[in-house]
Amino acid sequence: MSHRQIRFRVPRGDSEALSDALTELGALAVMLQNGSAEGFYEAAYPHEPDWSEIDVTGMFDESTDVAGVVDTIRSMFGSFTDQGVTTLEDRDWVRVWLAGFEPVQAGKDLWIVPSWLTPPFKEAVNLIVDPGLAFGTGTHPTTAMCLAWLGENRPAGLDVVDFGCGSGILAIAALKLGAARAWGIDVDPRALVASRENAERNSVADRYSACTLGKMPENICAQLVMANILARVLIDLKDDLVSLVCKDGVILLSGILREQVKEVREMFEPTFEFREVQREEWFLLTGIKR
Ligand SMILES: C[S@@+](CC[C@H](N)C(=O)[O-])C[C@H]1O[C@@H](n2cnc3c(N)ncnc32)[C@H](O)[C@@H]1O
Repeated sequence: MSHRQIRFRVPRGDSEALSDALTELGALAVMLQNGSAEGFYEAAYPHEPDWSEIDVTGMFDESTDVAGVVDTIRSMFGSFTDQGVTTLEDRDWVRVWLAGFEPVQAGKDLWIVPSWLTPPFKEAVNLIVDPGLAFGTGTHPTTAMCLAWLGENRPAGLDVVDFGCGSGILAIAALKLGAARAWGIDVDPRALVASRENAERNSVADRYSACTLGKMPENICAQLVMANILARVLIDLKDDLVSLVCKDGVILLSGILREQVKEVREMFEPTFEFREVQREEWFLLTGIKR
């Protein structure tokens, strides 16, 4: 059976209501993608990317009155900046939508494997993820650099903090690479839930805790603190981040653009000695606490 995909480009604020409306109108699935020129990284919250425009695509069965759906959506949302309809012929649409995902090597002996696929190397450390909407799947350069670092510097036996944990991918990678315990900290309650679920899925939940900063047990000192947020947030959080790292411990600061490196280094440098890693336009600072 073929399916019809109906896509609407709308301002970010309309995307959730549009997604609900498409479901009400019988969409079998709804997908949200970046519809604007900017990258998605300015997102402070998982599942709420800060794109100015979002492409919302509903997947309908072939008998759907496409013109009727478009008219209804137009009457609800006024004009959209772009719109299109495509047909998926005689294909399993789930496969089509998921076909873009495949296992990715994230570091030395470290793989990210979508949950419905078989790991290509059983003996490797395999992070099982369900790719979500925005990030947390490990492929963004800022996350990828942290994962690659973890693959090269296995945190065996260490206590680890993943500050701004999102899906928990960094904490979970650290645990699967031998860390003793990991704490995920996030401002977004959904990140706390999602990271706990991902820890379960990866069989490391017994060593993982997720909470807001205020709920962190007192006097926790981690030998490794990873923070993949944005430069301005890293700077705002400087005192909290510094106090979480033990003496001689390591900090990973990621999510920094070239023009922001100097400012971040200057803020943290009295306490840390840094090296820089670069991927595309992003920098990772790895520092040892003096
Ligand atoms: C870019 S995501 C990183 C997710 C994951 N650690 C990774 O590397 O893919 C940044 C995360 O930081 C969280 N965040 C933003 N501001 C924060 C703050 N002030 N305190 C704690 N978490 C924060 C966001 O909610 C989001 O989950």
